[in-house]
Amino acid sequence: MAAVSKGPVALALSSRWAKPAVFALGLVPLGWMVWLGLSGGLGAEPVAEAVRQSGLWALRLLLVALAVTPLRILTGQAGLARFRRMIGLFAFFYALLHVSVYVGVDQFFDWAAVWKDIVKRPYITVGMGAFVILTALAATSTNGMVRRLGGRRWKALHKAVFIAGAAGCVHYVMLVKGWQYPPFVYAAILLGLVALRYAKSPAAGRLSPSYRT
Ligand code: HEM
Repeated sequence: MAAVSKGPVALALSSRWAKPAVFALGLVPLGWMVWLGLSGGLGAEPVAEAVRQSGLWALRLLLVALAVTPLRILTGQAGLARFRRMIGLFAFFYALLHVSVYVGVDQFFDWAAVWKDIVKRPYITVGMGAFVILTALAATSTNGMVRRLGGRRWKALHKAVFIAGAAGCVHYVMLVKGWQYPPFVYAAILLGLVALRYAKSPAAGRLSPSYRT
């Protein structure tokens, strides 16, 4: 059979350096936060700023993970799919960091106070909901879990990533004070990604049936 030649992008995506490169990129926000922490760049309230930065990166990477499949289909770059799980796990990693800094450094592991926050402050309740979903998705992200659950059930469960994204956006909208546009930008991007999945636009028409199920 004649060999099919790949373009430079496809070659780069399938190279053995691509995954380590994406892994290294995923660690950049962490490195940046550590650098800011050590150099006093986190401002007058470093703990609150660390909570904010890690929350923002969790949400950003969640949206990037959700954008992988539409981007793969619209560009025809099948090699992009290799990075989806890693990006999703990085989103979980930053969410874990966010919750850990909040529970450990902000609340000093005062579980009673944390529980009170979860029950009394609706934005924390919603954030908790997003975190529980992301934890379930991360725990079932291995090949072994895909086999154990079966492809159909695994796919159905992993659709909850959209609920986690929506809860992350609502959490953000609820916690900002007064009128601020950034949370709505994240919510609009999420809505755009959901629309791409279901809309019958010419672009969405190119999405494969398996993606649209
Ligand atoms: C148990 C779960 C969670 C708790 C307790 C929690 C708690 C918090 C707290 C205390 C803040 C800072 C509020 C302030 O500055 O006044 C915050 C901000 C934020 N959180 Fe969470 N969070 C949780 C889960 C999540 C998850 C899963 C995401 C993302 C998917 C997320 C995204 C954000 C964002 C984007 C911000 C705002 C950053 C900013 O102000 O610029 N949070 N969260």
